[in-house]
Amino acid sequence: MPSETAAPPGATGDVLEALQDTRDRTLALVAHLDDDALERVHSPLMSPLVWDLGHIAAFEDLWLARRGAGLELLRADLAEVYDAFETPRAQRGELPYLRRDEAIAYLADVRERALQAGTRDPLLLELVLRHEQQHTETMLQTMELARLPAPHAPLDAPATADPALAGLSGLELVEVPAGPCTLGAGADGFAYDNERPRHARELPAFRIGRAPVTNEAFMAFVAGGGYERPEWWSREAWAWKEQYDIERPAGWTTDGREWRMDRCVPLDPRKPVVHVSWFEADAFARAHGARLPTEAEWEKAATWDQGTQAARPQPWGAEPASDAIASHANVDQRAFGTVPVGSHPGGASPAGCLGMIGDVWEWTASRFDGYPGFAAHPYREYSEVFFGGDYRVLRGGSWATRARVATPTFRNWDHPQRRQIFAGLRIAKDA
Ligand code: AVJ
Ligand code: FE
Repeated sequence: MPSETAAPPGATGDVLEALQDTRDRTLALVAHLDDDALERVHSPLMSPLVWDLGHIAAFEDLWLARRGAGLELLRADLAEVYDAFETPRAQRGELPYLRRDEAIAYLADVRERALQAGTRDPLLLELVLRHEQQHTETMLQTMELARLPAPHAPLDAPATADPALAGLSGLELVEVPAGPCTLGAGADGFAYDNERPRHARELPAFRIGRAPVTNEAFMAFVAGGGYERPEWWSREAWAWKEQYDIERPAGWTTDGREWRMDRCVPLDPRKPVVHVSWFEADAFARAHGARLPTEAEWEKAATWDQGTQAARPQPWGAEPASDAIASHANVDQRAFGTVPVGSHPGGASPAGCLGMIGDVWEWTASRFDGYPGFAAHPYREYSEVFFGGDYRVLRGGSWATRARVATPTFRNWDHPQRRQIFAGLRIAKDA
């Protein structure tokens, strides 16, 4: 492991505590579900929920016990069942994956053995922690698609929009001047391989949405024939829309309501639109004489401080980053859903953009690829095998993303037709 991955002193205690907290929350997410809800394949896009549980354990066994401490795998017989790369999601229903009680026991057994072995490599601990945290968001996507009951009410009162910011639609633009910026994560601390190396970019001036596009703006697009006017859609997007009879965002009803887990509730015009594909996001932008931001534009708008001519890698300047993010953004599954745009004015980026972190992932125009000088680390199957595929990058995290993961350099990706992600959009224009 290169020394650049060393974490600051004190980080190990923090990560051990976070591992325990994350595990408690993983189990709490599914505790109220019956065995059928946990073990069934709800969608060809998603694994059975109980597969995610066993996979979390298998990943931890591999990275903490085997790689970190040199032990044999606890359950070598399960390695293939839980290898995400070997078995695509659509085929996981056929695998001999562990059922509820066995999977929960496997999680506990792996954890106990790994901690006893004394693995304290901060890179591996973070890798395992963030892996479990990312899978809890995947599990929530499955639960929303399957319309399963939510595990609990919001953990704290959802924020409401600052009165000064009420009325934002997502069509308001801020200008970001031409000039340099830096992209990607620096050499210190944990980051995924695809966020490195940090590098400088020179961008022309551009404009970008002050907030994500709201339900209100998207309802107007639907009502205005947005899904009927081919001139706003790329040829590929139109073909997809026609083939699957797509007429509105996933989960929207014809009478102005939307499905949130097992509840169908009136669409809140102030909240960001969610569960749109890249194709729909792109069409919405074109219909408004706009486009999706590139990934570089998104990151510059999220981090670049014109005054200091430097990126603010932790957007609100405080330590540790995850605490700052948690207190200024709708993350961490606290509100258990989206909140009105503008609800976190303290999380505004230096450029004046609101809600870049949390609430909804934002589709960008960019395809998923390695930065110049990319090096796979610690394993090729995290990022590299997806480079050059038909993937678009999403940025910023959602309400379901844990604060530790939802950094302004984190890169998510999926196919342009996918709608299970808690994803909306922010528009951009040339200056
Ligand atoms: C970064 C969300 C695209 O779920 O495929 C989980 C994260 N990688 N286990 C995914 C991941 C391996 C990944 N995404
Ligand atoms: Fe995984």
